[in-house]
Parts: sequence; structure tokens; C-alpha cells
Amino acid sequence: MQKSGKILVANWKMNPQTVGEAKDIFAPLKKTVVKFDNVNVIVCAPFVFINTLRRMDLAGRIPLGGQDVYFEEYGAFTGEISPTMLKSVGASYVIVGHSERRSLGETDALIALKAGAALKAELRTVLCVGEKERDTHGNYLAVLEDQIKASLQGVQKRFLSNLIVAYEPIWAIGKSAKDAMSPSNIRETAIFIRKILAKLHDSETAFKVPVLYGGSVAGANIGAILKEGEIEGVLVGHQSLMPSQMNEMIKVMNNV
Ligand code: PGA
Repeated sequence: MQKSGKILVANWKMNPQTVGEAKDIFAPLKKTVVKFDNVNVIVCAPFVFINTLRRMDLAGRIPLGGQDVYFEEYGAFTGEISPTMLKSVGASYVIVGHSERRSLGETDALIALKAGAALKAELRTVLCVGEKERDTHGNYLAVLEDQIKASLQGVQKRFLSNLIVAYEPIWAIGKSAKDAMSPSNIRETAIFIRKILAKLHDSETAFKVPVLYGGSVAGANIGAILKEGEIEGVLVGHQSLMPSQMNEMIKVMNNV
């Protein structure tokens, strides 16, 4: 159940290395989350850990998600995971189109199929978009527009109530807090993203889609990013593996 507060999607990426370590990260997080009512923390863990984490939190205080999903329901697709499979182990969210998957060769067309299938299966779907670099002529805006349109190609409006867009400029990912995008640039880009969504459908639909920022979010910058960035939340990578950082970020978020 989505609460009214800000959203923090933890993207564990291909971490940690064992199920035991995954439990060690999740257990303190559970304790933190129950203390703060005004935050929505979601953990997108490697597929193989999802069921174990769900069993540690049967009440579902921390919704879980996958980091990718395939667009077919079942069949001869070795190594792939379907939306129904994800749901059956306790996931209610999924990330699609992360830049690290795009760099492995995923195209906008494939991502649109994945987003469509996930949304149809009623998974809350976090679509990641973001430019590789910011040029001084503003070409990155066109890049972003094309990426959003192509990654949502064929997705029907009625499914957009479960869509979340995560804006993650690639150049800001995996660094330290000072290298994140400035809150004012985040605000401007989020407005631009909403305009594109409004062009695709209508402004009422567009303004219901939460927009998140991702890229070197940490305890030191999350407050300014959420307040001045005027966004609904954040997608946090490497810092989300550290219980003390999560504790700090959640505490700040709760008061934004
Ligand atoms: P980061 O990663 O927080 O480590 O920059 C964000 C992401 O790639 O989702």
C-alpha cells in the first residue's frame, strides 16, 4: 500500500554476493522503516533473494521489486523471468530500462515491451531514462524526449497509473554525493519529463506519474534533492546497501 510520503527505491544491482548478506542488509532496514511513517521504501533486489526477503517481512512493510523482467509470460526464453513469476515470489515493483541494462544492449523497443508487460501484470513499473552526457546546446533534452517516447511506445494510457519514471543521468551514477545533479537542474528536468508525458497522453495522467531522481543520492544530498528538486522520490544504488546510510536517508525523507 503506497503511503503519502516520498518514495525511495533501493536498487541493489548485482549485490550483495550471498543470501546471508542480503538478510543482514534487510533486517536493520526493516527496523528503520517501521519507525518512520512518512516514507515509502522499496527494495529492488536480485531475483534470487526476493522470496527470502519477503519471508522476512510477511506484513509487506517494505515492498519488493525485481531489477528487470521479460515481456513474455512463459516459454522457451532461457534465463528470463516473467511478471507473473516476480509477483508469485512477493514482488510488486520492477525496474525496467536501467542504463546498466541498456548498456548491455537493451533497446528502447525491448524496454517498451517489458514496461507494457509489467504494467499489464499490475506491477508498479519504474522506467529509467537518462542521457549519457549534458551538452551545452541542450541536445540532451531531445535525447530524453526520444527515449521516453520510445520506451513507452504502445503502452496504453489505462496502465499508466502504475508507472513511475526514474530520471537517472548516466554521468551522475555511482559517484559521491557532490557529483549528483544539482537540485535546480533536477527540478527543470522533472518538469520537462512531465511535459513529455503530457504530450504523449494528457496533463492529468502525466501529473499522476511519480518522477524520481537517481544518481549518487546519499544522506548528504537527499534532503536538498527532494525539497528543491520538487520530485516524488529517489532511486538509490550503492548507498542503499549500507544500513547506516539508509537510516540517515529515511530519517531526512520523513521530514521533507
Ligand atoms: P547510484 O546508482 O545511487 O549508485 O548512483 C543509482 C542507479 O544506478 O540506480
